[in-house]
Amino acid sequence: MCGIVGYVGSRPALPIILDGLERLEYRGYDSAGVAVLGDGRMMVHKQAGRLADLKNSLCEGSTGCVGLGHTRWATHGRPSDANAHPHLDCSGQVLVVHNGIIENHAELRAWLERHHHRFRSETDTEVIPHLIEHYWEGDLEGAVRKAVRRLEGSFALVVASTREPDKLVVVRQESPLILGLGEDEFFVASDIPAILHRTRRTIVLENGEMAVIDDRGPRVTDWEGAPVDKPIIEVSWDPVTAERGGYPHFMLKEIHEQPDAVRETLRGRIAPAGGVNLAELQPLEELLRSCRRVYMTACGTACHAAMVGKMMLESWVRIPVEVDLASEFRYRDLLLEPEDLVVVVSQSGETADTLAALREAQHRGSQVVAVTNVLGSSVAREADAVIYTRAGPEIAVASTKAYMTQLVVLALLALHMAQLRGTMTPDRIARRCAELESVPDRLKLVLQHEPMLERLGGRLRDEEHVFFIGRGADYRAALEGQLKLKEISYIHAEAYAAGELKHGTLALITEGVPVVALATQRQLLPKIASNIAVARARGGWILAVGLRGATEIQQLADEYVPLPELSPLLMPMLAAVPLQLLAYYAARARGCDIDKPRNLAKSVTVEG
Ligand code: M6R
Repeated sequence: MCGIVGYVGSRPALPIILDGLERLEYRGYDSAGVAVLGDGRMMVHKQAGRLADLKNSLCEGSTGCVGLGHTRWATHGRPSDANAHPHLDCSGQVLVVHNGIIENHAELRAWLERHHHRFRSETDTEVIPHLIEHYWEGDLEGAVRKAVRRLEGSFALVVASTREPDKLVVVRQESPLILGLGEDEFFVASDIPAILHRTRRTIVLENGEMAVIDDRGPRVTDWEGAPVDKPIIEVSWDPVTAERGGYPHFMLKEIHEQPDAVRETLRGRIAPAGGVNLAELQPLEELLRSCRRVYMTACGTACHAAMVGKMMLESWVRIPVEVDLASEFRYRDLLLEPEDLVVVVSQSGETADTLAALREAQHRGSQVVAVTNVLGSSVAREADAVIYTRAGPEIAVASTKAYMTQLVVLALLALHMAQLRGTMTPDRIARRCAELESVPDRLKLVLQHEPMLERLGGRLRDEEHVFFIGRGADYRAALEGQLKLKEISYIHAEAYAAGELKHGTLALITEGVPVVALATQRQLLPKIASNIAVARARGGWILAVGLRGATEIQQLADEYVPLPELSPLLMPMLAAVPLQLLAYYAARARGCDIDKPRNLAKSVTVEG
């Protein structure tokens, strides 16, 4: 997500902070800011846009030796100068940079406004300096301690104050923060690459920990103030590996980030009693209650997520849904009516075809809900309501965590509509919500199959064709699996609804041809078993990804990847991981440029 860098030492902090932020630029951001203290004054400078622009517009220098900086990737409030970090309290004496999401920011903001605090930004973060100001009783550390107890959500914070200009107070909860120990100088950062060239000696803060950093070094405590003894960890990564969090490719890093990404997607959106809380849909609530049909449109992976979303909406909301590739949406004789709901799905929010489909829908009088990952993107700005996926920046061209979080958002949307329209009982909704909350842990279990998938990916190295089959939601998941394999390994892959094999494709299944069969839909296991048996009888090599304990499927398969069981329409979330890893390791075995596959771009901003 966003990047944080802080410094306390004997050298001017500004160049060190700017240099650290530059080393985090690869992660993507939309605005940046710095603050320096310690030379008898405070310099704060922040603005939307590139770090280079911020540097160019810094007219005042600073010799202060305490500083903090931030690159923001917007989540609450569009990218703008006012929304860039650091954020300040009313008196301008407390400064905060923050990564993460404050879930209860609206409630805290209302409370602070009642206590006469004046806000200058639209961010969730700004409640933090005001809370610290509110709890100030003469020391920064004590005020921070009191303020963080009021916060719900995820946060890595660096706090400074002109009243105690020689120190930083840092806090970690569900968002990474590391301390770096130099020779008489100390660093704090959200990511190792920001400080790796300065020091390899680090302390990793855990949830519920904080530290005060001054010229004596960091003192780590819990939020109650009890000292915590922290080990010093020597980082051995080279700078390039560090950028990828120790992984050889961004794609693999992003595959492994999926449990945390889903946690962020769900944060604050499931009520403790189990209902769905999507406040962002408030403006369209009447339409969500009354619409008689839904159109969904997207491209590539996002369209595969929409196909699963269609099944969720049809099954849980009992409403007819059509899914169109965005590149087709405008060019067919659409029967779209103004009272139909349109849902567009786009990781980048900039895909030309998706944007054009959104505009076409609005031109015909329909209202559009966008599901996107990028705040302030064109799709987000133009839609009538937006649900953010909160996957964090996705750098690899092949979409993984964005797809996963799109599935989660579409499940939330379907449950939200079921709640509004009374098509599911509160109990049933609560059960689905509980299952969604279990997804991060289940994804972690599935990730444990990585060594097996590495071996199986290697097995595909010299193949020219791979077939993917599945039924129901598995067919939609298979479509995504084949796209992943194609785009990064350049192996030709096709996905079929398994019942279609016998209508033509079976002619291509001969001795040794790989068939990846998905068998996660309990009600369809006997059907997919017979499809697998038919492919096997033609000599096909069967890799099945199925429910744990589905012995008939396991016995039919040459290789079997077992998955924990969720409701059938949530299974594409779990099935995605082995298919992503299979594609990744096949591409790696073939020596492909995994993060930047040939001929492809991360964001397709032209119609072709
Ligand atoms: O940014 P978007 O979600 O709108 O992008 C749509 C497709 O271009 C994208 O999903 C593409 O298919 C991915 N490279 C697949 O991994």
